[in-house]
Amino acid sequence: MGGNIFGSIFRIVTFGESHGPAVGVVIEGCPPRIEISPQDFEHEMARRRSGKKVVDTPRREEDLVEIHSGVFQGLTTGAPISLYILNRDVDSRPYKVLENLFRPGHADYTYFRKYGHYDFNGGGRSSARETAARVAAGVVAGKILEPLGVKVAAYTLELGGERAKSIDLGSVENSPLYCPDPAASERMEQAISIARKEGDSLGGIAEVRVNGCPAGLGEPVFDKLDAELAKAVMSIGAVKGIEIGSGFEAARLRGSENNDAIRPDGFRSNRAGGILGGISNGDEIILRAAVKPIPSILLKQDTVDREGRPAQIELTGKFDVSAIPRIIPVIEAMVKIVLADHYLRLKSIT
Ligand SMILES: Cc1cc2nc3c(=O)[nH]c(=O)nc-3n(C[C@H](O)[C@H](O)[C@H](O)COP(=O)(O)O)c2cc1C
Repeated sequence: MGGNIFGSIFRIVTFGESHGPAVGVVIEGCPPRIEISPQDFEHEMARRRSGKKVVDTPRREEDLVEIHSGVFQGLTTGAPISLYILNRDVDSRPYKVLENLFRPGHADYTYFRKYGHYDFNGGGRSSARETAARVAAGVVAGKILEPLGVKVAAYTLELGGERAKSIDLGSVENSPLYCPDPAASERMEQAISIARKEGDSLGGIAEVRVNGCPAGLGEPVFDKLDAELAKAVMSIGAVKGIEIGSGFEAARLRGSENNDAIRPDGFRSNRAGGILGGISNGDEIILRAAVKPIPSILLKQDTVDREGRPAQIELTGKFDVSAIPRIIPVIEAMVKIVLADHYLRLKSIT
């Protein structure tokens, strides 16, 4: 199975299945002499794990990150860094049904069609459990970006049709849904409670803002920064659309409306979302990701078995109602990984 490696200089390979012994990541190309300890991972891993009511994921993992290589006396050596996160709270019983039936909207059907044999417990490799490894890698990438003053902040713009009307980044961490508008956060929580009672799930939109990104990141033509960010974020399960800056709205604007006029002291607007010609322009980078509703719902659905015979599937077990908010730190991590990689690429030619 290919497709597990991402990045050019700062390269990651993630490994592990949802109900296997562990998930983790090997990072190649991290510069030496960066301070890293297991405690550095705790905050971000806790944000992904999300232990808050309403949005509580039913699986309980400690998510302690073990550093198995590449760090000596608390500093990176430049050698590959391997990070392990043990799977402890594993209950494969509810997944027995997936041995023979495919969940509509999930990866079971296509994994079976492609590989003919796969680990279906907890979603196996296609499970969001894999995103724990991405978040751990994002912490290391963040260590490269921090001294540059680059700040990556993602939040929930919309969930279950409820949209944030104001963006107060200071209130994001107070919201169990990482929503920057407290009133909208409450409406989103209600929407989640209703969907949960109905055995159904919800989608939404995450928005990311990157401040302090230097101009010059991005490698035209195939590794343009917007193309790399889109691939990185869309490689996260459940992400179905990406917009940069004015995004799809740009299709309805005139050039005179969409262009960001340039003054000696900077751009007058930011519909480009901080990227022009695939290269960061020094302005704020703005990206939005459309997140589909969680496929595993408790309602009965039509499906087929491995022989293609019609069947019905009715799931029991542990599922989120929405990939939001747990996807928020994962998106931040993938954006950091892309920026760290492109910063190192820029440094290698200048
Ligand atoms: C943070 C996060 C949590 C998720 N939780 C679940 C879940 O509990 N149940 C589920 O069926 N899918 C969940 N998903 C979505 C599936 O992983 C995803 O829909 C599946 O792998 C199919 O991939 P696709 O949606 O990209 O086609 C989650 C995704 C993310 C990013």
